Amino acid sequence: MKLKSLLIASAMMLAPASVMAADLTIGFSQIGSESGWRAAETTVTKQEAEKRGIDLKFADAQQKQENQIKAIRSFIAQDVDAILLAPVVATGWDEVLEEAKDAEIPVLLLDRTVDASEDLYLTAVTSDLVHEGEVAGKWLVEEMAGKPCNVVELQGTTGSSPAIDRKKGFEQGIAGHDNLKIIRSQTGDFTRSQGKVVMESFLKAEGGANICALYAHNDDMAVGAIQAIKEAGLKPGQDIKIVSIDSVPDIHLAMAAGEANATIELTPNMAGPALDALEAYLSSGTTPPKWIQTESRLYTLKDDNQAVYEAKKGLGY
Ligand code: AHR
Repeated sequence: MKLKSLLIASAMMLAPASVMAADLTIGFSQIGSESGWRAAETTVTKQEAEKRGIDLKFADAQQKQENQIKAIRSFIAQDVDAILLAPVVATGWDEVLEEAKDAEIPVLLLDRTVDASEDLYLTAVTSDLVHEGEVAGKWLVEEMAGKPCNVVELQGTTGSSPAIDRKKGFEQGIAGHDNLKIIRSQTGDFTRSQGKVVMESFLKAEGGANICALYAHNDDMAVGAIQAIKEAGLKPGQDIKIVSIDSVPDIHLAMAAGEANATIELTPNMAGPALDALEAYLSSGTTPPKWIQTESRLYTLKDDNQAVYEAKKGLGY
């Protein structure tokens, strides 16, 4: 039995969770800072660690999987107690996760899933990414009430679980409603700048009058697209309906101005439930479920979006 296992075993008998947390060193491999939501997740994770007295080693991968793999190997070499991983893409993790498993270091996934065997990670804290897309699709079905509507889609990072699942969910949400047609779909890499560039190309290719709605896999791309729509002389939110995901403060500001129509909330606090699960695991051997699901909620123009903006802007965004 390795020393770490012995410590966990004795902690299971002796130490309360709070004592354990103060002694923990945890590595966090973050994707980067592509969106307002991602920046908030980083802030909240650091706050959650500090609150619990955890020594958090933070590595920003600048959107590259190879950097995340390097960071995980470095955390293993430092013999950390656990690793938090927000995986940029879904595939290609087996080898490095095996290495963490061999070193008896639990890995907890934050906000995105991986295509790997479940025994390679302790738990995944994510929203239901398919459901988010489905809620967006159903919202548009209701909004259009049978009227014909050509939809353009801004996808998230290619190969990432939210891009795959949110696309699938939206298609499920509009299935059977032939008045709604996705006429263009392209990645905007979850960034504001790419959202703008790709929306400009949609508008150029189709002409504004042929586009009735935009579905963006995150709010930042929607905010970039709003700029492109305005520059094309159109009214976002009216000439082109906009539904997106995250519920960052800026989209609520746009909604308060009538320039976006709906968003689905994704909490940036993935670390809280992950660290609770880790502490219970280390202190009493409680094995968490493989999936800890966070809540999703739809905001529309019926909500007081100015108030939501005011309430959210301090919360790590
Ligand atoms: O994985 C969650 C997604 O990643 C968020 O919706 C998006 O803003 C971020 O980049």
